[in-house]
Amino acid sequence: MSDAAQPRRVVILGTGGTIAGRATQAGDNVGYKAGQVPVQDLLAGLPAWAGQAVDVEQVAQINSKDMTLPVWQALMARLVIHLQRPEVAGVVITHGTDTIEETAWLLQRVLQPATPVVLTCAMRPATAVSPDGPQNLSDALAVVRAPGACGVSVVCGGQVHPARDVAKVHPYRVQPFSSGEAGPLGVVEEGRLRRFRDWPRAHPDGLDAPAAGRFAALGALARVAWVTSHADADGSLVDALLLQVAQSPGQACRGIVVAGTGNGSLHERLQAALHRARDAGIVVALATRCTEGSVVGWPAQPFPDLDGLSPAKARLELSLRLSGV
Ligand code: SIN
Repeated sequence: MSDAAQPRRVVILGTGGTIAGRATQAGDNVGYKAGQVPVQDLLAGLPAWAGQAVDVEQVAQINSKDMTLPVWQALMARLVIHLQRPEVAGVVITHGTDTIEETAWLLQRVLQPATPVVLTCAMRPATAVSPDGPQNLSDALAVVRAPGACGVSVVCGGQVHPARDVAKVHPYRVQPFSSGEAGPLGVVEEGRLRRFRDWPRAHPDGLDAPAAGRFAALGALARVAWVTSHADADGSLVDALLLQVAQSPGQACRGIVVAGTGNGSLHERLQAALHRARDAGIVVALATRCTEGSVVGWPAQPFPDLDGLSPAKARLELSLRLSGV
């Protein structure tokens, strides 16, 4: 392909978050309302985005703690359309930091896009004295434009994280994400990506259209609960879920992800309740509440883990599997 024929357009899809947040006082970095400023306005005056061929769409305007299946479906539907346009070099999605790791995992897991999809965000609202969103948006553009970029990643605080590993590990600082022991995929410095690791996997067909179709057709995601083992834990939450299964089987929880202590160890009372749940047909999967590493399998492991995914991603993964996606 000649240089002139290279895809150049960048699509930006807005979903809300703190990056689009508005506070009543400029100095307020915590008492703001997320998801207020139109995504189009976030680009205004950013030198990196000036003169770029850009298509801008507001898909949602929410605080990402309130993410729902219909918002995910609307986002994925628009994404699939844009990823199939040959002139599109990449897609940037603005999103809240609180559940960005789940949306990033969802999009990578279902689509595996060969065209780069970069989620970006901010820890300070757009009205802050020193907002971090503008730099993150500029860095996101550098990542979608990077040679060979593919798959889904998250850009924030100068770092690039692959969808599989990224986790929010801090409630306040402007670099709140970690990819654990694997480290970030790269860093963005003055508009240039310095890459340390491979890009996320890309589907040979450009994206996994059948999986996208299955996700689009869902009326609901299979309900999967997330419980955590801790000192003095008991099985009461799990038993309450079991009661629901007995009373209204159609709407009840079909899976449980349990975040164990350390290498997936479980309080004996919680473990007994989880065995009762499994006997009642609920699928139980194990993760660790440790923020780094993943469960190292052992012969008497009571429940399987989900490829070392974090509890948040394991919960979503089990829900996708139980939903047939
Ligand atoms: C959100 O997740 O939408 C609010 C918090 C944030 O973006 O930092």
